[in-house]
Amino acid sequence: MSYQIRAATPGDVTALVDLHRAAAAVPDGLARRPDEITRDYVERFIAGISFVAVDPDGAIWGEIHGARETVALFAHVLSNLTVAVHPDRQGLGIGSKLFEALIAHARTMDPPILRIELAAGAGNLGAIRLYERLGFRHEGRQVARGRYPDGRLEDDILMGMLI
Ligand SMILES: CC(C)(COP(=O)(O)OP(=O)(O)OC[C@H]1O[C@@H](n2cnc3c(N)ncnc32)[C@H](O)[C@@H]1OP(=O)(O)O)[C@@H](O)C(=O)NCCC(=O)NCCS
Repeated sequence: MSYQIRAATPGDVTALVDLHRAAAAVPDGLARRPDEITRDYVERFIAGISFVAVDPDGAIWGEIHGARETVALFAHVLSNLTVAVHPDRQGLGIGSKLFEALIAHARTMDPPILRIELAAGAGNLGAIRLYERLGFRHEGRQVARGRYPDGRLEDDILMGMLI
């Protein structure tokens, strides 16, 4: 199936809540739990930079977003990056295509974006492998940054890419 990548719009909010909740329902992926994914959360992130992967019927199967840092010293940095592909469509190249669109867009931004950064749970090995393949470098580790409902602690892996 072919997926079109386009910028997210306010009309996508309901579909994006559903998508992120479906992705968040699978443990050890997204940081947020399904009940933490609200319309307000989605409305805030689509106000930044957000791209969606859409099938020929218009259904949204993946989304990526990030935002420019607001403090002037860091304003060349795109951060707060999150990517989610529906569990039924993972492993088909959608995540990679969304990253390509985000990076291509970041290269056109004015003032320029020179750096993209993200964090991944240390147990999210598939996502970390994807980020390595895309060119992100390991930059550090935040010990016990995440705490799951069962009390399990997880480190965060910090990754960055200069563009
Ligand atoms: C991580 C994620 C965005 C990747 O998107 P994708 O469309 O599945 O990725 P692609 O098909 O473009 O690339 C496949 C690569 O993604 C990684 N991957 C991560 N989770 C995967 C999954 N469930 N199925 C298949 N590949 C996955 C692997 O590195 C894989 O490469 P490999 O074939 O060499 O193992 C997607 O799996 C996802 O939404 N996961 C849940 C949410 C999440 O973890 N987000 C990132 C938080 S830091």
